[in-house]
Amino acid sequence: MSLKFIKANNSKDIKTIYDYNIDAFSDSPGFNWNYDEIMKEVKDGWELYGVEENGEIIAALFYKLDGKTLFSKNTSIKISHQGSGFSHKIKDFFEVQARKDKVKEIVHYCSIDNFRMYSLNESHGYEKSNRRLGENGQVVEWIKKIKK
Ligand SMILES: CC(C)(COP(=O)(O)OP(=O)(O)OC[C@H]1O[C@@H](n2cnc3c(N)ncnc32)[C@H](O)[C@@H]1OP(=O)(O)O)[C@@H](O)C(=O)NCCC(=O)NCCS
Repeated sequence: MSLKFIKANNSKDIKTIYDYNIDAFSDSPGFNWNYDEIMKEVKDGWELYGVEENGEIIAALFYKLDGKTLFSKNTSIKISHQGSGFSHKIKDFFEVQARKDKVKEIVHYCSIDNFRMYSLNESHGYEKSNRRLGENGQVVEWIKKIKK
């Protein structure tokens, strides 16, 4: 099982990721999964990646570097691909980026009711902060300190 993380470099790439995932990824923390919202995130400094397995996009993720922090969030894994450990690989991807970019911490955002993500975050050494974001406080912030 190997995943490819493919960065969206232009609006065509973004459209491809969006089109692929139009039905699959409804549960995206902090924003509605639609093209305009994605463009807004990208303009706001978030990098968008498609996560591919055998040429199929099975998730999308965002990350943003800001000073010594790497901010991260991802869509749901495509239902047909859940339960295969891909979410661990996405966590590893953020961790590799964080070490490459020499940041001190990774911040991850997820929906307040995504308890599977809670246990995934805990198993990767993230701690839940008290901050709640999004329009109705539906987004939970998690923080992982990066040890040197
Ligand atoms: C959360 C999510 C990213 C996990 O991805 P996945 O590919 O399904 O993950 P896996 O089944 O390989 O499991 C990865 C980890 O997630 C957590 N997890 C997965 N299913 C879980 C469950 N039913 N209960 C608790 N933790 C769970 C565990 O930490 C698991 O690690 P482990 O297998 O080493 O114990 C994915 O399921 C997802 O995007 N779900 C949609 C969001 C959602 O569930 N919404 C409903 C609201 S609760």
